[in-house]
Amino acid sequence: LGKEIVHHDRISSTQTTAIEYAQEGCDHGTVIVANRQSNGRGRLSRQWYSDNDQGIWLSVVLRPDISPMKAPQLTLVTATVLAEVIEQISQTTPAIKWPNDLLLNNRKLAGILTEMQAEQDKIHYLVIGIGINVNQSYQEMDLSVREIATSLQIETGKTFHQTTFIQLLLECLERRYQQYLDEGFHLIKASWEQYAYKMNKEVTYQTGKAKQKGFIRGIAEDGALLMETESGRIDSLYSAEIDWFSS
Ligand code: BTN
Repeated sequence: LGKEIVHHDRISSTQTTAIEYAQEGCDHGTVIVANRQSNGRGRLSRQWYSDNDQGIWLSVVLRPDISPMKAPQLTLVTATVLAEVIEQISQTTPAIKWPNDLLLNNRKLAGILTEMQAEQDKIHYLVIGIGINVNQSYQEMDLSVREIATSLQIETGKTFHQTTFIQLLLECLERRYQQYLDEGFHLIKASWEQYAYKMNKEVTYQTGKAKQKGFIRGIAEDGALLMETESGRIDSLYSAEIDWFSS
């Protein structure tokens, strides 16, 4: 990964640019990095505030020879790698909030956006976008997210060298990606669960109309969240609304 790294100062979104590259046939492992993004995108069509050069904003183009059904596993691979690298660099242990938000002190530190083009049983490309709030001060965080997001600088009082960070991130992603292809998902699943936010804790969630309580028990092979219901059954959740922050 990252044999080809395309570096921009300011672009709309590394994700959008990476998708264009992918459609034009760029190699597996191409990485697009930007110092700042004028129109960073998050999951669920949300905005991702990144018009500052204090964070890591990059997208990786992958062309894995796996079934499109398994694509969510690669997002979980990436979340695990992010947790490991952040821990190694900052000596703080982030939590992975299912499916793929990274939290420190209950605030969002990093996010992952995976987009792919596939047909039937073939993935043409999968673009994994990674955003990490690194050196922003509290004042530099966008007003609208200041109380729910955080940066490594805010949490540790230290500043971090971004190039070193990116190198380590790509190395670790390459290693875990290869391990995933060679050995399957089980090792990733185990590491993901070690970092899982609210693992074995009770949360309230809503599927359809009814509010329920359950204990988070981990993730399934297909990326579903495993929830033990009050009656002791294990449910697989795909897009349930979980009330993460009340207990
Ligand atoms: C989320 O938590 O909703 C996902 C955020 C993903 C942000 C990254 S920053 C690099 C890449 N380019 C984008 O426009 N988005 C992703």
